[in-house]
Amino acid sequence: MNEGTPELATANETPPDLAEERAEVLEGLLAEQKRISPKYFYDERGSELFDQICALPEYYPTRTELSIMDAHLTEISKLVGPRAAVIEFGAGSNLKVRQLLDALEEPAAYVPVEISGDYLLKQAEDLASDYPNVHIQPVFADFTQPFELPEHPVRPERNLVFFPGSTIGNFTRGEARELLGVMRAEAKDDGALLIGVDLKKDPATVQAAYNDREGVTAEFNLNVLHRLNRELGANFDVDAFRHEAVYDEAEGRIEMRLVSLEDQVVKVAGRMISFRRGEHIITEYSHKYSVEEFHALARRAGFRPERTWTDEHGLFSVHYMTSG
Ligand SMILES: C[S@@+](CC[C@H](N)C(=O)[O-])C[C@H]1O[C@@H](n2cnc3c(N)ncnc32)[C@H](O)[C@@H]1O
Repeated sequence: MNEGTPELATANETPPDLAEERAEVLEGLLAEQKRISPKYFYDERGSELFDQICALPEYYPTRTELSIMDAHLTEISKLVGPRAAVIEFGAGSNLKVRQLLDALEEPAAYVPVEISGDYLLKQAEDLASDYPNVHIQPVFADFTQPFELPEHPVRPERNLVFFPGSTIGNFTRGEARELLGVMRAEAKDDGALLIGVDLKKDPATVQAAYNDREGVTAEFNLNVLHRLNRELGANFDVDAFRHEAVYDEAEGRIEMRLVSLEDQVVKVAGRMISFRRGEHIITEYSHKYSVEEFHALARRAGFRPERTWTDEHGLFSVHYMTSG
């Protein structure tokens, strides 16, 4: 069904561009509590570093999610049924979707929606050569902005939105509900959602997952400054910042930060931004949920929880939900 190389489509009214990045980054850095959205982690280097994080011994989410999925693929395949279109939000590497496509009955289409454009295309090309019967339609878009997916040239039986990796945790609970609402709309009335969500657990395990001994997470976090230097003409001295990840138990979330090691002034897109020694930029939240909290959130977005699977240690959860 694939005719050669998949073509990159964009589904945003305007594709993610530098003007938007400049405005959003400046707004974040000029705020009282400085912030950079985690979506800016993912240039090509950032996507590669994230793949390395997924293989780290401390980073339990990836291997745990894969093992939960592996244990329940037959049931998942039965629940989804034949000829589904799989729409993946924030696809990253193909690791998890390969596992899913292998299990599903005659999957009709795969639509990865990603902001890391070059990486997306490379992954889609690999997938297209291995799954010639699945229509692969990579979509370069920011899923937090209004977007509309291109029409499939194939007619799927139903849409399955796939959102693994606990990326939902990167959003505040209000934003997460909104994003689930977008997914509910993409799933349509007879569709479903398969989503991986990291669970609340002892703080030491969570803390270790974001502070690995090899320093890969630190490199991933600091890489965003290299990106801003390259794309926005910033002059961050990357060595003058350090990675920090702290678990806030009351909020049930990891806060990933870049801490300024000295008083300094940095030029970003023509603006001077000052940092005090010890001041930090928040670069990512990673919210953790209990199963009940997540069900309540998803119900408010219009999904009906049908199945929830967890691992034996209660580290991670995978949920299958239908359009309610
Ligand atoms: C935490 S990684 C998860 C990757 C993969 N789904 C997994 O389970 O390992 C988040 C992925 O979402 C993408 N992403 C983050 N924010 C995005 C946005 N606003 N729009 C589109 N893609 C986004 C990133 O480029 C990255 O590939």
